[in-house]
Amino acid sequence: EKGGYDYFMLKEIAEQPKAVADTLLGRIDASGLLTLDEVRIPASVLREVDKVVIVACGTAYHAGMIAKLAIEHWTRIPCETELASEFRYRDPILDQRTLVIAISQSGETMDTLMALRHAREQGARVLAVCNTNGSTIPRESDAVLYTHAGPEVAVASTKAFLTQLVACYLVALYLGQVRGTKWGDEIRAVIRELSDIAAAVDTVLETMEPVRALARSLADKDTVLFLGRHVGYPVALEGALKLKELAYMHAEGFAAGELKHGPIALIEKDLPVVVVVPSPRGRSVLHDKIVSNIQEIRARGARTIVIAEEGDEAVVPYADHLIRIPATPTLLQPLVATVPLQVFACELATARGNEVDQPRNLAKSVTVE
Ligand code: M6R
Repeated sequence: EKGGYDYFMLKEIAEQPKAVADTLLGRIDASGLLTLDEVRIPASVLREVDKVVIVACGTAYHAGMIAKLAIEHWTRIPCETELASEFRYRDPILDQRTLVIAISQSGETMDTLMALRHAREQGARVLAVCNTNGSTIPRESDAVLYTHAGPEVAVASTKAFLTQLVACYLVALYLGQVRGTKWGDEIRAVIRELSDIAAAVDTVLETMEPVRALARSLADKDTVLFLGRHVGYPVALEGALKLKELAYMHAEGFAAGELKHGPIALIEKDLPVVVVVPSPRGRSVLHDKIVSNIQEIRARGARTIVIAEEGDEAVVPYADHLIRIPATPTLLQPLVATVPLQVFACELATARGNEVDQPRNLAKSVTVE
């Protein structure tokens, strides 16, 4: 059942192009707009929504952090993303005009379930983004948009994450479509870009051998840091989480702008630092800022591992290791930028002799609070 792969995780990483394409399937009508029939929350209710709150844990939370940026950018509805385990304990402000999105691969995560129960008690509508048909979280929600990743067996989430992102982009666009904050042509353009992503993920997967070799060369390190900005920040957090779970290494993700507010004190000779570089097009200010971050950490002797778009030449002089990803629109970059980090963590785990699919102390679904 591992389809010729040594681990489920490797199989699931390889399945990502299909998982992404499947999650779009049947959700785009002949005119290139969205038909999310599953989202049974009436358009009249969605038009009244004045706040979106996303609750999730772990990797799903990272998807939620990216979703927040897409939702606010495309719909102009204020959106916050919160760890499900923190949510109900702070007495959050919720009412009938709040749309809560609960993201969960398993649909059984107790923290997320308790957060959504709390939200519904306060009158909020809950939309689940879930990978498991008929599981508890979608059953207790007002509506569900299923991700079509297929069963995810490895404890470390990979293809579920990419499909959570796709589903969240669809929700964001759908909200824009229903509320008229995005014009038909703009929606069609983003959908076309999303439809191209599966092929881009495939391209990334074909070029992973140097990433594996790099991972093996770092097997005796204690710490790896990850930096990113904007959508690259959750990607950095996700890269660090994968490394903790699989390689049992000290790994931390930072927003690159925070470096000078503390973490730069950690930089020392030969410390591996992975930097997720935003597209030089689009938000070019951020691109330039991150290039100076790379210069700063390299000047302090760190070993820079740079993930940058094809054609981004500005990073070349400062990258000890350069991992290329295809150019994508800014908000969609996590779909390609995360993949090398999954491969990196998986290979490091193997090199360190760890159990890839069943890391110590972890369960696939966490059904206790
Ligand atoms: O099933 P869920 O998506 O609700 O699970 C949430 C987290 O427990 C999960 O993403 C966890 O962080 C993964 N092991 C990460 O790889």
